Amino acid sequence: MARGFFISFEGGEGVGKTTQIKRLAEYLREAGHEVIETREPGGSPGAEAVRHVLLSGAAEALGAKLEAILFAAARSDHVETVIRPAVEAGKIVLTDRFMDSSRVYQGVTGGLSEDFMDALERVAVNGMVPDLTFILDIEPEEGLKRAASRRSEGEAADRFEKEQVEIHQRRRQAFLEIADNEPERCIVIDASADADKIANDIRKCVSEALSVAAEDTPKKSRAK
Ligand code: TYD
Repeated sequence: MARGFFISFEGGEGVGKTTQIKRLAEYLREAGHEVIETREPGGSPGAEAVRHVLLSGAAEALGAKLEAILFAAARSDHVETVIRPAVEAGKIVLTDRFMDSSRVYQGVTGGLSEDFMDALERVAVNGMVPDLTFILDIEPEEGLKRAASRRSEGEAADRFEKEQVEIHQRRRQAFLEIADNEPERCIVIDASADADKIANDIRKCVSEALSVAAEDTPKKSRAK
């Protein structure tokens, strides 16, 4: 494969993204692909430094705008030092959250304007839009229960898990709207289903997308 492939996994809290990324990565490696598993906020040394500031809640008191800019700064570093080099080297990159999380958490429920969020997204993503995005969808009460049960004893909920269920409902709707608006990129997955079924559905979608991408590549180079 000349150019690699970039897949993001999105959704609310406790939807099972991490498990599904691991399973897809195993499957793709067995099929002979080189796979990078990464996450946001974080995924590169610079972005991991910013992650702590964001998830501890240290940035919260400083306002939604500052938080959004920090997420964008972390994303820009992640894109330029990890994602783009890997995709250009023909690898498949799987990221746990990407730009849609900012659109939803900072834009929709953070109350920041679309113009401001679009400008940040353009700078941070810099053309590296995912080829495919899985939106794992679940009833927020169920997701929050799962997120709580996965924490080890004594570990506190992070800054975003602690928010009201109503906010999580709005985020769920916002993710579904993104999927409606960008059906070529986004696939909604029922995250309340059995993990094996979800893994199978995701595999099928990815295999199809990879074969379409492989068919497209020679056509494009012929056209040159
Ligand atoms: P994390 O511990 O990685 O959990 P999760 O399993 O939910 O992904 O926490 C990441 C948190 O950061 C999550 O609550 C969503 C939030 N977030 C944003 O608000 N904006 C962003 O752009 C990103 C990437 C994450």
